[in-house]
Formats: sequence, structure tokens, C-alpha cells
Amino acid sequence: MMTPDHKHRILILGASGFIGNALYKELCSYFSTFGTYHVTNPAFELNKHFFQYRVEEDDIFEILEAVKPSIIISCLRGDFHAQVIAHRHMAEYVVAHDCKILFLSSANVFDAYSKFPSYEDDKTLSGSIYGHFKIKIENMLMRLPKKKVVIVRLPMIFGTQSPRVKVLKQHIADKTAIEVFPNLIMNVTTDFKLTQQIHYIINRNKHGIFHLGSSDLVHHDDFIMEMVTLITSENVHFKQVYTTNEDRYLAVIPKLNPLPKHLQICSTELLEELNNYMNYNP
Ligand SMILES: NC(=O)c1ccc[n+]([C@@H]2O[C@H](COP(=O)([O-])OP(=O)(O)OC[C@H]3O[C@@H](n4cnc5c(N)ncnc54)[C@H](OP(=O)(O)O)[C@@H]3O)[C@@H](O)[C@H]2O)c1
Repeated sequence: MMTPDHKHRILILGASGFIGNALYKELCSYFSTFGTYHVTNPAFELNKHFFQYRVEEDDIFEILEAVKPSIIISCLRGDFHAQVIAHRHMAEYVVAHDCKILFLSSANVFDAYSKFPSYEDDKTLSGSIYGHFKIKIENMLMRLPKKKVVIVRLPMIFGTQSPRVKVLKQHIADKTAIEVFPNLIMNVTTDFKLTQQIHYIINRNKHGIFHLGSSDLVHHDDFIMEMVTLITSENVHFKQVYTTNEDRYLAVIPKLNPLPKHLQICSTELLEELNNYMNYNP
């Protein structure tokens, strides 16, 4: 249900996380925005727009009834089986109310196909438990009325506060080896660009499947090594991991639903953004 001035009421599941929190900060000045967190945190407890939610134990209906969202954004982690049930309940809510759902999916829904990058209408197929789980929720949501669903498929997301960059920094501090996958060709993105893209999708009332990866492809090892040179000038130990003899792709490229040019990103812009941040926050 929208607010009396016809603004969306947005509920972000996983609003304390890396992406969910970046989305909360991006959207809260424009929409009536609410969020969930999992681990007890005094800052969120004091915020009346935040609800504690444990996907394995709590009933999502209670939060839906309290917030009455016109848009649900799902940025959760947690037990896969419990997440499937929670998304089934959300799907029921979406059908019965004036509400749409935006689900953060992953390039892993294509991880069984390794020879090419993937487009929006390609058939999904995964060899991983994580990929299977994302496909299950995607398929469930795709049975809802088309205009009520947005699925965004994401590659690896890097950003100054991202868990992936924190792990790199930890390896550098501990002087332990950083694993790189020389055969993996992928695209990448940042939380900064992703939140702008999702804001645009909401404003333009878009629906359907969006592939929100960088416009260019990178080799995993080259990209990580470049990123590490931005973080430190010290010698860092890399461990090269070969999972196949041939190159394999894990990349989501837009064809049917491209976003405007200013909302696209290439890997060099991502590295520049990180470099600027490092210069101001050494
Ligand atoms: N990051 C990436 O590179 C990437 C790439 C592709 C797709 N995605 C998808 O994007 C979504 C968000 O990822 P993220 O990197 O932002 O994850 P994250 O930083 O780990 O955040 C996960 C969120 O889920 C909450 N959560 C964790 N366990 C929970 C549980 N048992 N019950 C209820 N809530 C729980 C966390 O709450 P607390 O903060 O309180 O623990 C947090 O708010 C995920 O669905 C992920 O699959 C991410």
C-alpha cells in the first residue's frame, strides 16, 4: 500500500547487510522505507523503521502486516529452506495486495553453463546448491503476475565496505595467500552503482529480469590483483586455483533489458571508484 501522498512504502529484507543497507541509505530519503536485521544491534533496535527478523523462526506475515509495503526488496541470507518458505509467503502477500517484489538473484543461476556469458532469457541451470536455491525462488516468483516481479541477477559485488574487499584486506594484514581463479571470466559491479540502478527500476516502475553486471568482462585473477595493488604496495601472496582446464564464464550481460548508459558500469570505473576511496581513507 502506498503512502497518502502516493509514495511507495518499501520493505528491505536484510537491510543491515552490505547491499540491503546501501539500498536503505539510497532510498530512505525518497520513500517510506523499512528494513529487517538479524543479529541484535542496539542501533537498529532504536530505529522504529527496523524489525528484527530471523528467517528460520519468525513469520514474515507479521512484518508485512505491520509495514504494508508496496515494494518488498529481498536481500536476505540465511538457511536456504527457510528462505524458500519465506519467499512463498511473500509471493502470497504480493498476489493479494497492491505490492511488487524485487529479488536479488545471482549469476550462479547459470553456473552449470561455462562456455558463454548469460542473457536475461537464457534458461537457468546450476551445478551449485546456492545456484539451485536462487533458481527455485526465481521460478516461484516468475509464476506471479509479470508486472509484480523484478529479478536482478548480480555478479560479484565489490565496494569499499563489501565483505569481499574486507576479506582481501584481512589476507593482506595476516600475510596469508589470496585465492585467484585464472580460468574464471566474469563481470563485476559495485554497491554504489547497484543502488542507483535499483532506484531507477523503482522510479520507472519496471518489471522483469535485469542483468546488472559491468559491461566488460574480466579475468578473476587480473581483477583481484589490480584491486590488491590499490590496497597495498606490499608483496602479496596469491594462490592460483584451477577448477577446469578451460576458461569458464560466470557473467550476466543485458540484452533484453539494458539500462541507460549513465547507469552502466565498466570494471575500470569500479577500480577508479575504489582507488578514490582508498586515497581519501588510507
Ligand atoms: N555480495 C555479493 O557479491 C552478492 C552477489 C550476488 C548476489 N548477492 C545476493 O544479495 C543478497 C544480499 O547479499 P549481501 O552481500 O548484502 O549479504 P550480507 O551482507 O551477508 O547481508 C545479509 C542480510 O541478511 C540478514 N540475515 C542473515 N542471516 C539471516 C537469517 N538467518 N534470518 C534473517 N536475516 C538474516 C543479515 O542480517 P545481519 O546483518 O543482522 O546478520 C543481513 O541483513 C543475498 O541474497 C545474496 O545472495 C550478493
